[in-house]
Amino acid sequence: MTARQLRISGRTRVVGIIGDPVAHSRSPVMHNAAFTALGLDWVYVPLPVAADDVPAAVAAVRALGLAGVNVTVPHKEAVLPHLDALTPLARQVGAVNTVVNQDGRLLGDNTDVHGFAAALRQHGARLRGRHALVIGAGGAARAVLAALSAAGIGRVTIANRTAARAAALARRFRGPRRDVAPLAALQDPARLADVALVVNTTSLGLYDTAFPPLAVAATPARCLFVDLLYGRDTAFLRAARRAGRPTGDGSEMLLHQGARAFTLWTGRRAPLAVMRAALRRQKSD
Ligand code: ATR
Repeated sequence: MTARQLRISGRTRVVGIIGDPVAHSRSPVMHNAAFTALGLDWVYVPLPVAADDVPAAVAAVRALGLAGVNVTVPHKEAVLPHLDALTPLARQVGAVNTVVNQDGRLLGDNTDVHGFAAALRQHGARLRGRHALVIGAGGAARAVLAALSAAGIGRVTIANRTAARAAALARRFRGPRRDVAPLAALQDPARLADVALVVNTTSLGLYDTAFPPLAVAATPARCLFVDLLYGRDTAFLRAARRAGRPTGDGSEMLLHQGARAFTLWTGRRAPLAVMRAALRRQKSD
């Protein structure tokens, strides 16, 4: 047992993560390492919440005086109507991953957008005016689109199984040129010839399940392949790596979305190195 686990006091501030499931989440270890490093009397706990219980869980954040919560799959959209206010970004994305309890007023924000943008910077991606291919059109894709728009991307192709969802995503964002395409476009060399970034926002390819055929060789040699999933070597990343393309998983996004949430709750700068090390340690557990 570590000193950290013994340090719960009468004044300990509580934050957590609501989702279903949450047992696999790496956020508790990451945030608790950060609280310990800064000597903060705070604790971060996993809070499994079934879909039907989302309204009651949000009310409980107020009733129990939690300092805030992270929200994960599948509740990022469902929490919206139960909050008191949304940041403009959360409203634009239509999803909340971080709730801040401001003396009983619950503010919903979306730090996934910052997380993805910071991860791209970490990978050294230069995207201004360039073309990105986004695979998927769900909630995660919306955060990616917001980050890419803010990064000054010139053009985005959204490839998705369901055309209507891709079209709805394209309509949500202004700025870059937006094209929609079926998943078959992943095999079309003409669509891939000038892409600087390919992002998988779907859960396809997790554990050896099939990933739609992707003509990696048709992308430029320095095209960056990012999978939002973390902690798993996906078929998508393996194919890119085999072709010698630079790759990144979702770990950096997880880190940076968490760092922004940490600051929103505590008002303190997040100890990034401590949080990154905690994530790495967990990966090797
Ligand atoms: P999230 O909020 O995590 O993005 P989501 O909203 O359920 O989750 O979106 C999942 C994405 O993965 C969608 O783009 C979905 O495609 P559809 O819009 O056609 O549903 C995609 N996806 C999930 N399973 C898929 C499958 N078996 N084949 C192709 N695409 C799939």
